[in-house]
Amino acid sequence: MILPIVAYGDAVLRKKAVEIDQNYPELKKLIQDMWETMYNASGVGLAAPQVGKSIRLFIVDGEGFADEEPGLEHFKKVFINPVIIEETGEEWAFNEGCLSIPGIREDVLRKPKVTIEYLDENFELHEETYEGIAARIIQHEYDHIEGVLFIDKIAPLTKKMLKSKLDKITRGDVNVQYKMRFPGRK
Ligand code: NI
Repeated sequence: MILPIVAYGDAVLRKKAVEIDQNYPELKKLIQDMWETMYNASGVGLAAPQVGKSIRLFIVDGEGFADEEPGLEHFKKVFINPVIIEETGEEWAFNEGCLSIPGIREDVLRKPKVTIEYLDENFELHEETYEGIAARIIQHEYDHIEGVLFIDKIAPLTKKMLKSKLDKITRGDVNVQYKMRFPGRK
């Protein structure tokens, strides 16, 4: 089932999400719905708060970036209760977008290498290190479960210039090809 993606301005995107355990109700169904929702919107990542659930869960599929970075076609994963252990290297700029903030893309600086501990969909523990675009996708999605958005990481003046666009997104005054839930549209 395709779920509506929560738009910028909704409080759920600003909450620090909580950990879950295996008894979380209908978790398999939620993950399946998140895959469907992400692919329908041509996304490379989707975090649970973006479908209105303030829990520490996100999914990624880097296939859309396989042309730029070979190997990413196999980067498809579910992250539950992830913890970023370490981020290292010299910050680099990458043009980011977000399904909750349609029509806006900005360069964001982040470190290139990330080590993350997480549970997969079977609640098995992993610790892995990622670099480049895979790391980037993880960092962006991880931010979502911390209540942080990529536009928080851009220059204040750039963000100021985006304000009217952001207000429009909150009101639902935006052209988007997938189902969304707008906080400012009652
Ligand atoms: Ni996002």
